Amino acid sequence: MLVSLKEILKDCELHRYAVGSFNTPTLETLRAVIHAAEGLGVPVVLNHAENEEEVIPIEVIAPLMVEYAKNARIPVAVHIDHGETFPYLMKAVQLGFTSIMYDCSDLSYEQNAERVKQFVELVHPLGISVEAELGAMPNNMACCIKGQGKSRLSDMQQYYTKPEQAAAFAEETGVDALAISFGTVHGRYEGEPKLDLERVKRIKSLVPEGTSLVMHGGSGTGRDQTQAAISAGIRKINYFTAMDTAPAPYLAEVIKKAGGEPVHYGRLAKLAMEVMEETVREAMKVFLNQ
Ligand code: 13P
Repeated sequence: MLVSLKEILKDCELHRYAVGSFNTPTLETLRAVIHAAEGLGVPVVLNHAENEEEVIPIEVIAPLMVEYAKNARIPVAVHIDHGETFPYLMKAVQLGFTSIMYDCSDLSYEQNAERVKQFVELVHPLGISVEAELGAMPNNMACCIKGQGKSRLSDMQQYYTKPEQAAAFAEETGVDALAISFGTVHGRYEGEPKLDLERVKRIKSLVPEGTSLVMHGGSGTGRDQTQAAISAGIRKINYFTAMDTAPAPYLAEVIKKAGGEPVHYGRLAKLAMEVMEETVREAMKVFLNQ
């Protein structure tokens, strides 16, 4: 069933687990995520990021996301990931998204807070949840968020969210979910990730009860650190790179084994879906924090 992010987060807070939030820019990804969630009986968030427009336009993918969400046997929120431009967010409202991330994290604290506050006032009466970001998420991926190049990862602390600011921001804006920076990166890690879990605990202790904390860059973070982050207070985990890059090596083997014979695309797409479903299922089990 289609629900708001807020509704899902209430359950996450109550039972101390994190909901998986997966970008679904293809039908195979969408079906893989829904199948995995239904199989485990867990709620899920379907994401479409503004910078995925070049992969698939929102007008094409949104009706599918909403339809799959409505027909699902589990609660599903349909969410904009890293939305940055106001007209784009309004398009998402019209297309039936139940949750929107308004990412103004590259602006000053004051501008970020002001824009998010106004947006919350605009869409909360429509039953739409809002996520914001404070601090910055570094990128370590070729196809990266905000069209930036790879971030400098030698000094991760420059990106971290300041606990007192997070508390003031959540109070001022009334935001439902807040993405915080504490050591994760979008894309692949160089070496072992080192998460500042004390920072997560401190932020959790300071923000109002109605604001849930979000971890972006879930891929490659590892079971132990991911579960430690959930125990520290994370309630939504964005996860994409590991899922979306899982099929390619497998499909390359399939094509190689065909030894030059024609390989049907539909068959490859189905195999890709199965590989992604398995990856998503394993991630969801970790996010349950059991
Ligand atoms: P990963 O691709 O690193 O899993 O991060 C996804 C994400 O945070 C999308 O917002």
